[in-house]
Amino acid sequence: MCGIFGCILRNREAAPIIHAALKRLEYRGYDSVGELTIHKGRFYIKKDQGKIDEVHRVHNLDDLPGNIGIGHTRWATHGAPLEVNAHPHVDCRGSIAVVHNGIIENFAELKLELESRGHVFKSRTDTEIIAHLIEENSKVDSSLGLVKATLEAVKKLEGSYSIAVVSTHEPSKIVCARHESPLVIGINEDAIYCASDIPAFLHLTNRVVTVEDGELVVISRKGFEISKIADSSVVTRKPKLIEWTPEMAVKQGYPHFMLKEIYEQPACLRNTLRLQEHYLDLMATFLDRAREVFLVACGTSYHACLAASYMFSKLAFLATYPVIASEFPEQHGKSVNIDSTILAVSQSGETADTLASVNCARERAATVLGLTNAIGSTLTRVSRVYIGQQSGPEIGVAATKTFTSQLSVLSQLALRLAKKRGKVSQDEMDYLAENLEMLPDTVETIIQDQEEKVKEIAKKYKSAKTFFFLGRGSSAATAYEGSLKLMEIAYVPSIAYPAGESKHGPISLVEPGFPVVFVCPRDGTHKTLVGNIMEMKARGASVIAVIEKDDEEIKKLADDYIEVPKGIPEVLSPIPYVIPLQLLAYHMAVERGHNPDTPRNLAKSVTVK
Ligand code: F6R
Repeated sequence: MCGIFGCILRNREAAPIIHAALKRLEYRGYDSVGELTIHKGRFYIKKDQGKIDEVHRVHNLDDLPGNIGIGHTRWATHGAPLEVNAHPHVDCRGSIAVVHNGIIENFAELKLELESRGHVFKSRTDTEIIAHLIEENSKVDSSLGLVKATLEAVKKLEGSYSIAVVSTHEPSKIVCARHESPLVIGINEDAIYCASDIPAFLHLTNRVVTVEDGELVVISRKGFEISKIADSSVVTRKPKLIEWTPEMAVKQGYPHFMLKEIYEQPACLRNTLRLQEHYLDLMATFLDRAREVFLVACGTSYHACLAASYMFSKLAFLATYPVIASEFPEQHGKSVNIDSTILAVSQSGETADTLASVNCARERAATVLGLTNAIGSTLTRVSRVYIGQQSGPEIGVAATKTFTSQLSVLSQLALRLAKKRGKVSQDEMDYLAENLEMLPDTVETIIQDQEEKVKEIAKKYKSAKTFFFLGRGSSAATAYEGSLKLMEIAYVPSIAYPAGESKHGPISLVEPGFPVVFVCPRDGTHKTLVGNIMEMKARGASVIAVIEKDDEEIKKLADDYIEVPKGIPEVLSPIPYVIPLQLLAYHMAVERGHNPDTPRNLAKSVTVK
């Protein structure tokens, strides 16, 4: 997730406006920043790695001539956060420039093609190919203007994008296009803006046009023109008046970042399906060769590791050991050696205990692999191979979208490994891959259909003193995660256990009305889980079950239930089944009068102020 911005102004310098807009978009990404203005037919560019204030201190982002320009604030997906990878990116001649938010899936193929035709690339980004594609189109047919050359270029792109393109040859227009990444236009009397999000210009205008997927927009001093990318047909759309305050706009109208990020999960999951396959392959090769594999992480990321250990075992027949990072050096420090592999999972890539485990492993010559949301973080620097999970910055302190994205990447990794080891049939591979593709829609359905129900449940149990979360198999990991969220955000003491273990002690806590949340996909664990539910019911527990739709057997037993669509393969079930639990924690916090974005005693390793 990155922030793009562009503006065309009358009688005012663009640079301070771009700078202010990028500052307001910083929550979308903050590892590098860039600005470009056009003056007298020339580009003026300032860009660097670092947060906007740091880059401004060194480069003075307000000091660029001209009243038209574009800007970008980055959250790295392809290429480390370095000056050379900061946007805007230009073509070979330096006369076409692009800022981009999204992920171009087929960039590697397009780059090879372009290089074979003599194009020279400076960055490691996927974005740069767009500038070269536009250049190529203009070279092949010099009569094509910027608009047509951009149109033909975006037709070749697979993946997600919102872009703003400028050219020194047509210095009074900005061409934008959108597919699966947000893009809005803002209008007032003496200016026109394009941006990833409304907060970029809400302090300047509240007249907004939302650009839809598959549309191209040309903005100029005369206004804006929207057309469809597929057939160039013209689209007429009137601006709407936005009544949001700037604070609401940053959260896109959601009351809290946590809820916004819960709602972002379908889009984030789609991003995880756009990973470069060779990274997955490379990591799978390391895992395949390892004598022993430790999955090391803290908190929510540890729960992703726990779920992943079931995936690796069930799909690839690989035993992996999930370990809480703060325990790793004590528990395994002495036995780790050159044949060991450590897959460290950390959203921030900066969590001290995870990095300490990694250091411990490196000192003993083990192989370190990393999965993180922060490219350029310490974890990416110390890992032999790393994968960026591409969830965009997570501003809410509670990890939500990053958890499900981690699960999606880890399941893809398990699938890769299974294929390498010949442990799954082609049919099973195809079936799982298809289901992974469908998960973003499934998650969207759950959020939309079940939130009201979850809200009612939160109202009903808001005064409960303690909660139990139980599940079997990989749903035990889901239960742990649901419990952690509830404690962290709603301050409800909560205990999670593999359901089968609950009778060995914890069950003595249960008395009439004690809320027990069961995670109950209809998989191999279903039958025994029904037994566990009965045990709890026999002691008067109030059972809240997350079930597969139309699971009449559990519906009859449960006091309350939340339904998840049918047919989710067992190894993927933690992704959809955790969604109601995230919503439950969120609504319990709200019902109990707490702000879910600012849990006490906790801080994110990486935050934007
Ligand atoms: C829980 C939460 C924390 C983090 C943990 C690890 O909602 O956010 O438990 O999961 O601090 O953080 P990362 O993944 O950044 O290493």
